[in-house]
Parts: sequence; structure tokens; C-alpha cells
Amino acid sequence: MQILDGKKASQAIKDELKIEVAQLAAEGKKIPHLAAILVGNNGASETYVAAKVKACDEIGFKSTLIRLEEDIAEVKLLNKISELNSDPDVDGILVQLPLPKHISDEEVINTIDPDKDVDGFHPVSVGRMVQGLPTFIPATPYGIMLLLEHFKIETAGKHAVVVGRSNIVGRPMSILLSENKNPGNCTVTVCHSKTKNIKDFCKQADIIVAALGKPEFITADMVKEGAIIIDVGITRTADTSRKTGFRLKGDVLYDEVAPKCSWITPVPGGVGPMTIAALMKNTYKSCQQKN
Ligand code: GUN
Repeated sequence: MQILDGKKASQAIKDELKIEVAQLAAEGKKIPHLAAILVGNNGASETYVAAKVKACDEIGFKSTLIRLEEDIAEVKLLNKISELNSDPDVDGILVQLPLPKHISDEEVINTIDPDKDVDGFHPVSVGRMVQGLPTFIPATPYGIMLLLEHFKIETAGKHAVVVGRSNIVGRPMSILLSENKNPGNCTVTVCHSKTKNIKDFCKQADIIVAALGKPEFITADMVKEGAIIIDVGITRTADTSRKTGFRLKGDVLYDEVAPKCSWITPVPGGVGPMTIAALMKNTYKSCQQKN
């Protein structure tokens, strides 16, 4: 069993970007600028946004963190996005999800200028991705493709089972893995909450992408010997023995599944850092398009 080390792969990507940014600065060109909006005080969202801002600092990107109150009126958030849309210095805009219940994700996503949609959630970005056109690919699936590429994982002709059909991970993942590209060219099955006998599908998989958000859902009896396991889950579960009061659990029962795999992503340190690296690549690309 070998580890798909997301920390190592993301560091390599960030190091490359750091060099590119230094070059832009030396040429007096515009530096990539990411604007992140965080609404409310969700602990996990705080951590993710802080990690995104930290990665910008590390690489030499400019970043702006906009914090808004939990009870902010939707129209105020939409106005803020419009302001960022028309700010020529801002290359990428992200609004951290989930949003409070009184705010429509759809309205928010649709308000972001597709040219600054570094999360790749806007219908224009999604449509372009489905057609295989150049676009911003959502950061988590893009990060997973970069991870497979980094470790030179052969995917062509393999049966990939994606467990989960969210717009953020499962659905785009299924599209990317089936594309006529490398990595890609998989035969893809999408399983979800209404799938009967998920275990039977998983047992046939050469690659499993577990993105359903249920801690330790994938157990050893669901996994074929030699399979490649990508664990997208990252759920906080109570653990009083830790200072934070919680520990992170993936969607895969790691200790039991790992010995059966050829490759597996750890949690943390697998997909998470790759999501950030992919977001940084999207932000760089957006800036390049303006430079
Ligand atoms: N919440 C969980 N994943 C993501 C992501 O990739 N982008 C944003 N904006 N919010 C998220």
C-alpha cells in the first residue's frame, strides 16, 4: 500500500506557483488576488478559509478576507459580490459554503462573474467543464485529478466508483474521470443515497472516490484487493482527549481499508491540501487571463 500524499503534491504545486508569481512581480505584472467571503462563524469554514488565505500568503498572492455577519441580508452579500466583480484588481472570488439557511447558494453562485469564478460553481463554468472546454474546475475534483497526475496513477480503462453526487465533488468528479484525457478515460459509476447495494458497486471498483460525508462509511468488505482509494470526507467528530475537542474522520475506515489498497489518501493530508493547491492554480489562471 502506498500513500497518495496530498501535502507533498500540493507543496510541489505551490512551489511552482511561487516561482511563477516571483516572475510576474519581477516583470512588474499584476499579482494574483483572491477575495474570500466568509459568512457567519462555522468552525470548519473558518479553518478552510484561513488555510486558503495562508496558501495565498505562502505563494505570494494577494488575498482579501471579507467576513460578514451570520444574519446579513442576502442582498447585501450579493452587492458585495457585485462590487468584487467590478474591481479590476480582484482575480478570483469565492464564497465559502455552506451559507446560512436564509441565503440562496444558487443566487450567490450565479452572481459571481464567471471570469472570476475560481470555485468553478457557476453554471457557465459547469457547462464549459461538461463540454471539455477551458474553464475553472471545482477545486476538490481538480485537486484529486492533480493528485492522480502527480503520482502518475494509471486511470485509463479503470472502473471508478464515485460515492456521492454533490455539485462540489461527486458530480464534477464523475465527469472529469470519464473525460478523454490523462488522468481520465475511466468507466464511471455514480452511487448515491438511493443506490441499492452500494457495496456491490464498490467491490467492482478499481478506483473509489468516497465523497458522501459519512465518517468511515467505506469498510474493508466493500473494497477490492489493490483498489485505489480517494477519501474526500473530513467530518469533525467529538474527541475529548484532544485539545480541539474533535478529530477528523474520513469517509473511509482507514485502518481496515488501507492494507487492501494499492494507493490511499490519508485524512487529513490527502485531498484537503490538494483542494487548496487547485484553488491557487485557478486563481493564477484567472490572473494570467488578464495579464
Ligand atoms: N465548502 C466546501 N468545499 C468548498 C469549496 O470548494 N469552495 C467553497 N466556496 N466552499 C466549500
